Amino acid sequence: METGTGGIIRIRNVSKSFGKNRVLRDVSLTIPEKSVYAVIGQSGTGKSVLIKTVIGMLKADSGRIWFRDQELTALSIREMNRVRRNFGYAFQNAALFDSMTVEENLAFPLREVLGLRDRELIKKKVQELLAWIELPGIESKWPHELSGGMRKRVGVARALITNPQVLFFDEPTTGLDPVLSETINNLVVRVNRELGLTCVMITHDIPAAFRIAGRIAFLDQGYIIADGLPRSLAESEHPMVKDFLRISFDQGAVNERAEGQET
Ligand SMILES: Nc1ncnc2c1ncn2[C@@H]1O[C@H](COP(=O)(O)OP(=O)(O)OP(=O)(O)O)[C@@H](O)[C@H]1O
Ligand SMILES: [Mg+2]
Repeated sequence: METGTGGIIRIRNVSKSFGKNRVLRDVSLTIPEKSVYAVIGQSGTGKSVLIKTVIGMLKADSGRIWFRDQELTALSIREMNRVRRNFGYAFQNAALFDSMTVEENLAFPLREVLGLRDRELIKKKVQELLAWIELPGIESKWPHELSGGMRKRVGVARALITNPQVLFFDEPTTGLDPVLSETINNLVVRVNRELGLTCVMITHDIPAAFRIAGRIAFLDQGYIIADGLPRSLAESEHPMVKDFLRISFDQGAVNERAEGQET
């Protein structure tokens, strides 16, 4: 059986349409294990659809996706639900349950996904994770009592609490000020380095993508038009990529940042 080579997630020739709207067109990507992998591109170009297709929230029309040696696109819904436990995802709007406290929000996946019932153990896990995201003691707070940045961090904690192997972030910094954005970007780096997770991050923050990602894929109208080390994107001759990066920051800064990434 063909499984492709390398990578914790392999996407091969995946296409996805909604009616006449062809959103993903023959997308192939390999996400290396324990990498920080950024997906960038204009709004409405299929970035969120790509992630949702990988985690099985949407079904690809064609193409194949593997997680390690398991072909996700060949699994039944039931099998996929089991395999999906290896994935955590922090959505674009960090949707916490408003009617639950922080503790209840974090306990929810422990109960529902992992089937944990031991209250003391649940309490302890929640407490430890809140300390790890540097928000200790906020268990009894309600989501509306938190700042936007705190909500995002709790959203990340909720995605982490079931011990996934891959964490997907859909625009974790959108709507945050530069200082808070930095906090969240640093959190992504810590998730990667300290917990050893593979992090796949959709972002509009191009300088951050160049700073923290080991690889970057550029999606344009459903096509991957560039994919590789930050340096190779910085040097891309593709007009769309060049334009996008020029607008995002001046080319000198792109090269400088990419230099630091060359390992
Ligand atoms: N469930 C759905 N049903 C129908 N069309 C959808 C669905 N989800 C996404 N689309 C369409 O797919 C296209 C890509 O959407 P997607 O959310 O992936 O964009 P994006 O790159 O994440 O944009 P943004 O940067 O604004 O978040 C859009 O045209 C959108 O309308
Ligand atoms: Mg999106």
